[in-house]
Amino acid sequence: MSLVRLDVVGLRNLAPISVEPHPRLNLLVGANASGKTSLLEAVYLLARARSFRTSQIGQLIRFGASELTVAGRVAADADAGGGSMPIGIRIGRRERELQIGGRPAQSSAELLQVLPLLVIQPAGIALIDGAPKLRRQFLDFGVFHRQPGYLDVCRRYAKALHQRNALLRAGQAAALKPWDRELARYGIMMHEARGDYLERLTPFFNEIGGRFFSGSHFALRMQPGWDLSLPLAMALENDVATDLRHGHTQSGPHKGDFSVLLDQRPVRAYVSRGQMKLLVYALLLAQSRLMEERIGTAGCVLIDDVASELDENNKNILLELLRGRPTQFFITATSREAIADRLPTESAVFEMAQGRLSQA
Ligand SMILES: Nc1ncnc2c1ncn2[C@@H]1O[C@H](COP(=O)(O)OP(=O)(O)OP(=O)(O)O)[C@@H](O)[C@H]1O
Ligand SMILES: [Mg+2]
Repeated sequence: MSLVRLDVVGLRNLAPISVEPHPRLNLLVGANASGKTSLLEAVYLLARARSFRTSQIGQLIRFGASELTVAGRVAADADAGGGSMPIGIRIGRRERELQIGGRPAQSSAELLQVLPLLVIQPAGIALIDGAPKLRRQFLDFGVFHRQPGYLDVCRRYAKALHQRNALLRAGQAAALKPWDRELARYGIMMHEARGDYLERLTPFFNEIGGRFFSGSHFALRMQPGWDLSLPLAMALENDVATDLRHGHTQSGPHKGDFSVLLDQRPVRAYVSRGQMKLLVYALLLAQSRLMEERIGTAGCVLIDDVASELDENNKNILLELLRGRPTQFFITATSREAIADRLPTESAVFEMAQGRLSQA
């Protein structure tokens, strides 16, 4: 699945853009504030109906405009000469509208499956050193792309958690039982799916991580969110008194996490910033490899500011990793020199200047 056509109107500083991206690697070059990240944001918006920069989607609307639209066509396979499907999103000041295949779509989950997409950005080291929530989202997103039914499991768990927490705050211990059962049921499913996903991710992560950190040994360690020596149902029961005091549920996959170990030490505490960035690349590229395995092609991977914080050697290794993959990449850089001479032949270079895009 790749984006074979992209039309953007009214997004941040971008002039109206119509472009046919390359099915493999697209390099976007431009000065600071030229609009590179904004263009990635447009692609992201099309695939996820959200922004990776802000939770206030209205900020994406160009100053003075009343709405923005991003439309695109997705080809089932990067090499398929044939059909493609139109998708689109319109964001107004108060409303939004999604379209898939010419029909209105109800939820962004539908979009997610049409154009699977990952993003790697400078702030992305939070995946290693930020809040556990980000790592849970990483796992859940990965699982969802293998088993779309997982979304429903997560929603049912979240609903039960919400109800249980409300009862805890109201001090209604007697009413907890049915929600405990729901939590235990869906919680175990989430835990197992995440564990299975992490296991499948590990060989790809080791392979890619091993390119950046030769001679080191990696492990991904899952933290389930409760003491695994107890079944979740029992942990919930044992926690009731303290949960009532705190007003929320302490045990379950909503408290889960995973950590990356490098030579048996948690990387968060020891590695340099540049190394964290490499590990984030390794995690996300491993995720895209797993998607390739599942659906034949991983859709899109966006890499903002690809050259920042990487030394020459690691930059070369990274570009080497992008070469020959069936995934469609959109990468940005402030100067051509930083990478253009090492690009694979299957690529296109675009220049961005003051919100205007041209093919170099
Ligand atoms: N809603 C908006 N309407 C118009 N312009 C905006 C809006 N939001 C942001 N901008 C401007 O868009 C410009 C482009 O920002 P963008 O982050 O895309 O640049 P960039 O090319 O990624 O730069 P850098 O190399 O510094 O990362 C900025 O000057 C910003 O002030
Ligand atoms: Mg930028």
